[in-house]
Amino acid sequence: MRLTLILLLTPLLTPLLTTAALAAPGGAVDGLLSGYRAEGASDFVAARAATMWSATTPAPDGGPARSCTSCHPVDMRAAGQHVRTGEAIEALSPSVTADRLSDPAEVEKWFARNCKWTLGRACTPQEKGDFLVLIQGAK
Ligand code: HEC
Repeated sequence: MRLTLILLLTPLLTPLLTTAALAAPGGAVDGLLSGYRAEGASDFVAARAATMWSATTPAPDGGPARSCTSCHPVDMRAAGQHVRTGEAIEALSPSVTADRLSDPAEVEKWFARNCKWTLGRACTPQEKGDFLVLIQGAK
């Protein structure tokens, strides 16, 4: 009897639960932040990330100096533009682009790629946490 009820309810509940997960802005952030703390990060500070966001690093190829703002604007709620391809990049703020910061693997993939390209090195857990707090805070 109980099993029948569960079987009946599953198709009804699954879309509801999925919708709730997708609708939660920045859904993956808490998990990522505790992971970074476990890796030795301390309190996360958005202001520190804001400074880093616009700070420039010389390009290894002698091209224009690089920063996160080479592709993303200072205002996380605004769309960006890829400096090399010219392609539009949707706003990073989850308050504007609903699926931002919702998938931990996606966030880590882009941190890996973007920190390497921009800074010439991986970001530390502390830096990644600071960035997430900054991006998520833009409402
Ligand atoms: C050369 C261009 C470029 C630069 C510079 C750049 N990014 Fe990005 N970033 C992208 C692209 C492209 C995406 C993924 C496109 C998309 O999802 O719309 C992305 C996605 C992201 C995401 C993923 C958010 C999510 O959950 O979807 C984060 C976080 C991010 N960037 C942070 C940074 C940080 C921090 C820096 C500076 C250290 C940086 N980016 C510099 C191009 C760039």
